[in-house]
Amino acid sequence: MKIGIIVGTRPEIIKMAPVIRECQKRSIPYFIIHSNQHYSEEMDSIFFDELELPAPHYNLGVGSGLHSNQTGNILIKMEPILVDEKPDIVLVQGDTNTVLAGALAASKLNIKVGHIEAGLRSYDRMMPEETNRILTDHMSEFLFAVGPNQESILAKEGIAKDKIHSVGNTVSDSLFQHLEIAADKSDILASLGVEAKNYFLVTAHRASNVDIPSHLKELLALFDRLHDKFEQPIVWPIHPRTQAKLTEFGIEIPSYLKLSPPIGYLDFIQLQQNAQLILTDSGGIQEEACLLGVPCITLRENTERPESIEVGANVLVGRDADKALTAAEKWLSSENITWENPFGDGHVAERIIDICLANDKPAAEANDAIVAKNESITVVGMGYMGLPIACLLADAGYQVTGVDLNEQKVADINNAKCPFDEVGMPELLSKVVGQGFLKASQQVVSSDTYLVAVPTPHKGNSCDRSYVFSAVDAIANVAKDGQTVIVESTISPQTSLAVADKLKAAGLSIDVVHCPERAIPGQTLHELVNNDRIIGATSKTAQEKVKKIYQSFVQGEVFLTDLTTAECVKLVENTSRDVGIAFANELAEICNELDVDVYEVIKLANRHPRVNVLSPGPGVGGHCIPIDPWFLVEGTKSGDLVRKARAINDQRPQIVAQQAMAKLQSGQNKIGILGVAYKADVDDCRETPADPIFTHFKQAGLEVKYHDPFVEQWQCERVEEIADLDEWADVLILVTDHSVYQELAVSSAILNTRS
Ligand SMILES: NC(=O)c1ccc[n+]([C@@H]2O[C@H](COP(=O)([O-])OP(=O)(O)OC[C@H]3O[C@@H](n4cnc5c(N)ncnc54)[C@H](O)[C@@H]3O)[C@@H](O)[C@H]2O)c1
Repeated sequence: MKIGIIVGTRPEIIKMAPVIRECQKRSIPYFIIHSNQHYSEEMDSIFFDELELPAPHYNLGVGSGLHSNQTGNILIKMEPILVDEKPDIVLVQGDTNTVLAGALAASKLNIKVGHIEAGLRSYDRMMPEETNRILTDHMSEFLFAVGPNQESILAKEGIAKDKIHSVGNTVSDSLFQHLEIAADKSDILASLGVEAKNYFLVTAHRASNVDIPSHLKELLALFDRLHDKFEQPIVWPIHPRTQAKLTEFGIEIPSYLKLSPPIGYLDFIQLQQNAQLILTDSGGIQEEACLLGVPCITLRENTERPESIEVGANVLVGRDADKALTAAEKWLSSENITWENPFGDGHVAERIIDICLANDKPAAEANDAIVAKNESITVVGMGYMGLPIACLLADAGYQVTGVDLNEQKVADINNAKCPFDEVGMPELLSKVVGQGFLKASQQVVSSDTYLVAVPTPHKGNSCDRSYVFSAVDAIANVAKDGQTVIVESTISPQTSLAVADKLKAAGLSIDVVHCPERAIPGQTLHELVNNDRIIGATSKTAQEKVKKIYQSFVQGEVFLTDLTTAECVKLVENTSRDVGIAFANELAEICNELDVDVYEVIKLANRHPRVNVLSPGPGVGGHCIPIDPWFLVEGTKSGDLVRKARAINDQRPQIVAQQAMAKLQSGQNKIGILGVAYKADVDDCRETPADPIFTHFKQAGLEVKYHDPFVEQWQCERVEEIADLDEWADVLILVTDHSVYQELAVSSAILNTRS
């Protein structure tokens, strides 16, 4: 289970602290998002430091603002974090705009919301917090109510009883955990020049009290009356908002009022615990006062904490000085003031985490649900590479359009029918199409990002870029400035720059990125996820943007570089193999002349720790190794070795064909080919060396049949059983090392081109 913890103001930080500590204690993965709704140093980071909490993992830095603006900003910044972090549950505490925005962002992403301090109601819709509380409660899966009052409020509002958990208030945990430390560490009383139980404490920041000059003056008149009567100093850690209003309205502060800037938590609980009386318009302080056994006069007409009134610890006075005086007189004349604590036993966070863990059984369906990102990607070319990539991006939550010119392919994909065989693809395709994250189309549609995965065949030993350019033209017709084009097709060096020029010529300001594809058929999905990635781009911004996209599904490392380097990396990988194979093939010829066994030579040479000679074979096949070296050197003067290696490997089928024919006795003319695919255990015959070998046999007038368990149709008659081919043929040639040929027992003369 992973928990997302959202805070935004001082009380939220204090009340979440025990929950954060509980996650740490139990090693539960969690992260903290701080909206920074309270944005001054005093009001905010001081609490993290003092409470020895880890710094928030994300700080949204929204600051103050009008309510909708602040809520909207939090929502916008919160969503991508939740999408990336994928928590199982998001915990919010209280009733601020941060709470509302956090709960809304999570609930829209189908992430469960746990609301700590659920069910509080003042029934005063003029208080913005009231709307926040009600909406958050109704979006939550877990409603952590303080006690029976809130439980019954929630039940009356129609919330299912099994979602409501009466747990107490985490403020009790916080207070009990910090009282001793505060007594030890805080010297606030001395620094303010007050003595324990010989001062009143005030907090007031609510707009209805401080934003209207006459109200603020009423409040000060109330303090005057109290001071006249009891002659006590009144300590007022002043909220920046209130301070600003006092200055704005030109209100003089009497000397008995000891104003201090906002103070840290430890100092504040020390001040609360030692006050004779607390006057506040805050919600949380009513609870803290009640827990600390200090009488509280609430400078409001209502409270969502009726428990403190019920037990006799709190009285509502608004700004009515008479009422305040009456309450103060009653309490201060009494010898022994006590009440029952209705707010919890200091183990509330433990209970909350227990409940989260006990319910950590997401329904299979919910588990499988794709979490949407608000970004769109169009993948052009729905082939062996494009379609799996499109599916992985869709599974990561991107809204993907898969584009292909082939009408049948588009229809198949929209019917969740995979057009080719590939491990895991049918299941993944049906998931992403079923949940509406992948749609196929014959038209390119405007998207945040475009990914090109069209063919790049070779033509006259160079890269045929016409498919890439035509895909880019189609993109240019719908693209907008600021979008990004990723080319995944294998391309000759500097093709990406040509693509960028094309887009620029179309009047577009678009980043071009090359991210070469290096997966192999048969393991495409596995390799797309697990292989490292190379991202080439001209700007850092484009590199980072595309890195984020790939990191949504890639588990390998992602390396950033420039465009042409990325192009070369992919080509060099295959060129290096081609040159290595050419060396092995050339070695086979040398050993032939010297009459030694090439395989024995290579085996013994490879015993040296720094030698790794490849094996000779019938030639090089597939859609990459015989092609990519040509792309690498097509525009360079250098590269003779690469071209020579190509020539050696291209010649190899003819050499092995001749070696096989040399085994025919006079009068014999039947040759059987074992394996025609370009590599072991696949049905792929692209560029297979079996093709030129067959051509050579036919040109020599021989009869040819083949056996291949994977390839059902090829250039000549297929023989179902190895034994039948063996019986028919005069000579066999093993071209592809399919596993079925490992224990080959045949009576015909045979040339094994693989070992
Ligand atoms: N298949 C692999 O194993 C593999 C591995 C690494 C790199 N690559 C590279 O990836 C690229 C794509 O290879 P692939 O094997 O997926 O090709 P593919 O032939 O399987 O598929 C390409 C698809 O693109 C479509 N297409 C062509 N032009 C189009 C256009 N203008 N608009 C829309 N669709 C268009 C075709 O109809 C086809 O369905 C190539 O450059 C290839 O070299 C492939």
